[in-house]
Amino acid sequence: KPAHLTWEEAAAPGLVNSTAYRQLVSRNGAAMKQGDVVLVWGASGGLGSYATQLALNGGATPVCVVSSPQKAALCRSMGAELIIDRSAQGYRFWKDAHTQDPGEWRRLGAMIRQLTGGDDPDIVLEHPGRETFGASVFVARRGGTVVTCASTSGFWHEYDNRYLWMHLKRIVGSHFANYREAWEANRLIAKGLIHPTLSKTYPLDQAGQAAHQVHHNLHQGKVGVLCLAPEEGLGVRDEAMRARHLEAITRFAGSESTPAR
Ligand SMILES: NC(=O)c1ccc[n+]([C@@H]2O[C@H](COP(=O)([O-])OP(=O)(O)OC[C@H]3O[C@@H](n4cnc5c(N)ncnc54)[C@H](OP(=O)(O)O)[C@@H]3O)[C@@H](O)[C@H]2O)c1
Repeated sequence: KPAHLTWEEAAAPGLVNSTAYRQLVSRNGAAMKQGDVVLVWGASGGLGSYATQLALNGGATPVCVVSSPQKAALCRSMGAELIIDRSAQGYRFWKDAHTQDPGEWRRLGAMIRQLTGGDDPDIVLEHPGRETFGASVFVARRGGTVVTCASTSGFWHEYDNRYLWMHLKRIVGSHFANYREAWEANRLIAKGLIHPTLSKTYPLDQAGQAAHQVHHNLHQGKVGVLCLAPEEGLGVRDEAMRARHLEAITRFAGSESTPAR
């Protein structure tokens, strides 16, 4: 456990930081290099908030996709400069339940090029699935990699295979992390190079509310649930290191949206 973090802060990155690390950094994933452009869907969410930090920490340029100005501000606070608000842009990758709109893929691709000065993503961090997968395959650069670990919006993906084979792109499947990847990802947290993105902690008897927030996409970063710790804020053993990184550790704190009625 990283000595400068509370129990709940230390627990928050476990799943998503390790998963994003394998997807982006590991040779089992996309083997990200310095200078790569990385398209990150849901960049202020669980996976995305760590993927954004891993990209920045590894010398890559994240292009962060989010759905509100508040989420865009969180990405900026992590150091990202290239942000796309998908709600403001109003992308409709599917005309109806069965038909995609390549014109919308092109509109996204043009926006990415405008932000990057002409570059297409070397890597696309995929997890929304059906809704975005066709666009992800399209916007990846020639020889680029779409690395997927989930299908939040549906697991029957459709994409135009011509863009995959003729432009020599790869689709890589990735699931959590092996022991070494998880250890390396946690080491970055322990060294203060990547920070937890905990926005709110709930007592155990409000675990349902925590799940509700995530289910309705009202959370930012990660939410925590206290299981064995009797209260928040316990477990810090390196106060000096904590003080050095406090601003980054608490970036997401209290940033949850209002519950939907
Ligand atoms: N295989 C594994 O090892 C593994 C590990 C961890 C998570 N997962 C899976 O990965 C997925 C994401 O996990 P997470 O913890 O990052 O969830 P999360 O905190 O809910 O973040 C996902 C983000 O994706 C964006 N998003 C959701 N639906 C979208 C859509 N239709 N189009 C575009 N963007 C969309 C949202 O951001 P905006 O609204 O801001 O765009 C949302 O904040 C889940 O399905 C989870 O089960 C898999």
